[in-house]
Amino acid sequence: MSHHIAAEHSPASHHEHENPAALADLLERDAAVAGGYLDDASAWIGTHFDSDPEQIVDLGAGTGVGTFALAQRFPTASILAVDASRTMLNHVTDGAAAAGLEQRVRTVECDLNASWPDAAADADLVWASSSLHELSDPDRVLRDAFAALRRGGVFVAVEMDVLPSFLPAEFPPEAPGLEQRLHAELTALGWNAHHDWASTIAAAGCTSLERRQFTTQATSPTVAPYAGAWLAKMRGALVDRLDAVDQTALNALIDDDAELARIATTIRGSRTALLARRSAAADQQN
Ligand SMILES: C[S@@+](CC[C@H](N)C(=O)[O-])C[C@H]1O[C@@H](n2cnc3c(N)ncnc32)[C@H](O)[C@@H]1O
Repeated sequence: MSHHIAAEHSPASHHEHENPAALADLLERDAAVAGGYLDDASAWIGTHFDSDPEQIVDLGAGTGVGTFALAQRFPTASILAVDASRTMLNHVTDGAAAAGLEQRVRTVECDLNASWPDAAADADLVWASSSLHELSDPDRVLRDAFAALRRGGVFVAVEMDVLPSFLPAEFPPEAPGLEQRLHAELTALGWNAHHDWASTIAAAGCTSLERRQFTTQATSPTVAPYAGAWLAKMRGALVDRLDAVDQTALNALIDDDAELARIATTIRGSRTALLARRSAAADQQN
């Protein structure tokens, strides 16, 4: 998820109050609907290694959608999923057991705002998807991440560029443009306002920063429940910020699965990945 899922760069964000079960559900739905970027990004990462990465760290792993995509792409790699939430890591552990990956996937519960986990060392690849924006001091965590990379190791950060869109512009007919208004209100609250991490990554000690955008445009029956999870999350954040017409239209979508399935059939979204290699200067510092 940006997931992300959405995103501001502030410890006092709405994420602190997020229900972990609801977030886990959203992350899983996100991967089911928009997870093509995981295949594309992991294939792109693979082109940066002469031999496949062996040690991978997934920072802010959530339910492990990145962990499992990387485990599939790099079949001999061991992956350490790092997250502050035990609920999220339980999903990773259960998913690893279900996929027969217990030997290759480990978890560590760690609040990255407080410390870097000792177990995350000598990594060939550190992956952080929709998680940097949640940290109170991403500069420090990025320095720690580069210090944890082996010589020539690769760091990848992924963030959503925009909030995903599901609703036609003409919805609702009585006041077209609901989704645009929702996104504007959420932007005013700081959602999806994360930095472009390029300068932070460069300062942390890297060479050859590369950028790639992954867009999603998909029509599928699984879009509606994913849209419903997002819209419920938005409604929770926008209490008292919507006029009566928008509130009624939003409630009708969230509370009526058939209406949602009729209206929300397509997702449009976009993520950007930044890929950087640990620099020789960083070798000298460590
Ligand atoms: C939006 S989710 C992204 C999860 C996953 N990377 C994905 O793309 O689906 C962000 C994750 O970062 C974790 N997180 C937030 N702050 C953290 C912190 N200070 N230390 C470790 N993990 C943190 C959250 O628990 C959550 O699982």
